[in-house]
Amino acid sequence: MATIPTVNIGILGLGVVGQGVLKHLNRNRKLLESRLGVKLKVTKIAVRDKSLKREVKVNPKILTEDGFEVVNDPGIQVVCELIGGTTLAKKLTLQALKNGKTVVTANKALLCEHGNQIVRAAKKSNGHIFFEASVAGGIPIIKSIREGLVANRFPRISGILNGTCNYILTRMQAEDKPFEEILKEAKALGYAEAEESLDVDGIDAAHKAGILAYLAHGKWISMKEMLIDGIRKVTTRDMAVADAMGYRIKHIASVECDAKKNSLFVGVYPALIPKTHILGRVDDVYNAVCVSGDVVGTTVHIGRGAGQDATASAVIGDIADAVFSVQGAELMNLIDEENYPLAASSKELRVAKLDEVISSFYLRISVVDQPGVLSQVTAVMAKEKISIARIVQDLDNNGTGKGRGSAVLTLTTHRCSESAIAKAISGLKRLRPVLSQPFLLRIADFND
Ligand code: HSE
Repeated sequence: MATIPTVNIGILGLGVVGQGVLKHLNRNRKLLESRLGVKLKVTKIAVRDKSLKREVKVNPKILTEDGFEVVNDPGIQVVCELIGGTTLAKKLTLQALKNGKTVVTANKALLCEHGNQIVRAAKKSNGHIFFEASVAGGIPIIKSIREGLVANRFPRISGILNGTCNYILTRMQAEDKPFEEILKEAKALGYAEAEESLDVDGIDAAHKAGILAYLAHGKWISMKEMLIDGIRKVTTRDMAVADAMGYRIKHIASVECDAKKNSLFVGVYPALIPKTHILGRVDDVYNAVCVSGDVVGTTVHIGRGAGQDATASAVIGDIADAVFSVQGAELMNLIDEENYPLAASSKELRVAKLDEVISSFYLRISVVDQPGVLSQVTAVMAKEKISIARIVQDLDNNGTGKGRGSAVLTLTTHRCSESAIAKAISGLKRLRPVLSQPFLLRIADFND
């Protein structure tokens, strides 16, 4: 049997994102390794202070306080730069690339400000740099633009790229509370960056918009060339007036390319957006990106734009790409059940039985309008241990209540199994007052 190769990873920085990456690498290691066909080994981690206590378990022997030990280690193939900032991070990234490493970074400021130099360094040393986590957290927007949407030119990419601004604006609107008050709470919840200005003055969103502009149009736009405005001056009065006019106020990033004029515009600013537009309905810390392509039309990507887990998901996605670039291989895209490596490393999947599939249901039942019908219907539901959440009856006999007309009963249930509701429907069909096959809808009350 062929030996499974090992890819050695070095991590720069073990803050919130670094710990998230380590946590999820460890948690899903078997799954990842079976998907990638390699062993993954974190062999060195650079931290500012080795003695600090951390939430994630880490072998103290692999810690160093010198980032250059990581980027100069000949055994390391993939370097994850997760320290942030643009000084040390830049030196380490350039050195890693010079040494032929594949680099994964979440550092939007570094890319926005020094992207040109970094990309050139990567090309010069035949290296690769991956930066999915630098824009829109867990949304794989970079991969989408670079790969899935490669057929397109992009006249417009617009979106909500700063979760903190979106959170603050959402709460100001919902609770009619001023900016300063909600900002304080956002900080307490750990949403706003330590330096609040990065978020609320639009700088973070501008960094991200700059990266999207580069991806879509191959040109790095400097911050000085962008229109950058934040949300400090937005009041709840503005929101109320906008609301009355059919708008929400959102912090929007926009990358617009006018092919006729050969011009590119990058801006981030608070804007009125129709309540009916999808961006008007993306709330809280969520990010959203609408990508308009000349071939595909508009695609919309929504997800958590910040936070340890979402960012770790993007970084690990990049580690996977880095592994393939190191191995010169590609992600298996045709999976056959027999050879799916998961089968070897975890219990074989079976198809769920219907009594394991749980949902709430909506049921419409046409019945004869006569005494006792409701109790027969509820008895059938009770027999299957289904709890009714709501029930409404509409009369089909013009609402006169006279005679023995028909009625429509509409009820919703609390959560129960597919098999229970199927049995209940069979029971209902057998009731004499039930006039036709009851009509069933599932209630998609996903709360994740
Ligand atoms: N501070 C950023 C935001 C998350 O609020 O969206 C990191 O990019």
